[in-house]
Amino acid sequence: MQEQRQRTRILIVYYSRFGAVRSLAEHVAEGARRVPDIETEMLEVEDLPVEALRPGERAADMQMRRAMVVGKLGSADALIVGAPAYFGSMASPVKRLFEDCATASNPPATDRSRPWHHYLFHDKPGGAFTASATPHGGNEQALHSILTLMMHLGMVVVTPGQQMPILENDAAPYGATAITGAMGNRIPTETELESARALGQRVAEVATWLAWGRTEWEKRHGAIGDHVASVTKST
Ligand SMILES: Cc1cc2nc3c(=O)[nH]c(=O)nc-3n(C[C@H](O)[C@H](O)[C@H](O)COP(=O)(O)O)c2cc1C
Repeated sequence: MQEQRQRTRILIVYYSRFGAVRSLAEHVAEGARRVPDIETEMLEVEDLPVEALRPGERAADMQMRRAMVVGKLGSADALIVGAPAYFGSMASPVKRLFEDCATASNPPATDRSRPWHHYLFHDKPGGAFTASATPHGGNEQALHSILTLMMHLGMVVVTPGQQMPILENDAAPYGATAITGAMGNRIPTETELESARALGQRVAEVATWLAWGRTEWEKRHGAIGDHVASVTKST
């Protein structure tokens, strides 16, 4: 009898003011679903910080909304994060979301030095995508800013790498990109859309391999959390 495996959940987190990054996000999701047993979910980042009260919202509602966002980020098997390039870096709402959600809102007084929910992100595969007005407008820097955030949180960075034919394919090796032109109205090319699909597919493949490998590892050696705790205690 074939063993039942759980579906691998890919969360695509993105911010988009004019629509280019949203379009890439949809193609990233399409690419991820090329891989068997993958579920994709979208999380569109809002302009307002997660902790800002929305019109008519009470503090308790905001805390529930925040907990749902933190829950989505924490329970996904992999994150693919997209942000427009703003001044050569990821647009600030995306960084802000991670700052708000990776930081415990009520750090216990006894542990003021570690108010970070970094464990939510540890070991998760992650990939990045961006859109910029011009080819030299900082799109690779914007990808790097997202990948640096992921490295800092202990995520497993997944990049497309160089794509064939190496000297003719203008896709970035660090993530998916689209150039939207000075007026922001350039339609993404098929190469750009395919680079978004390929990113989704690659992150989904690596996430599946890691999840399956982890299941096998735990069968032999017990829960990874217990193993980490025992190693940490003995060092
Ligand atoms: C505040 C701001 C800063 C920007 N900075 C850059 C930049 O540094 N380099 C660039 O090429 N484009 C820059 N752009 C253009 C956006 O990166 C581009 O329009 C992108 O497609 C927006 O993505 P969206 O359509 O998903 O909102 C900037 C746009 C704004 C609003």
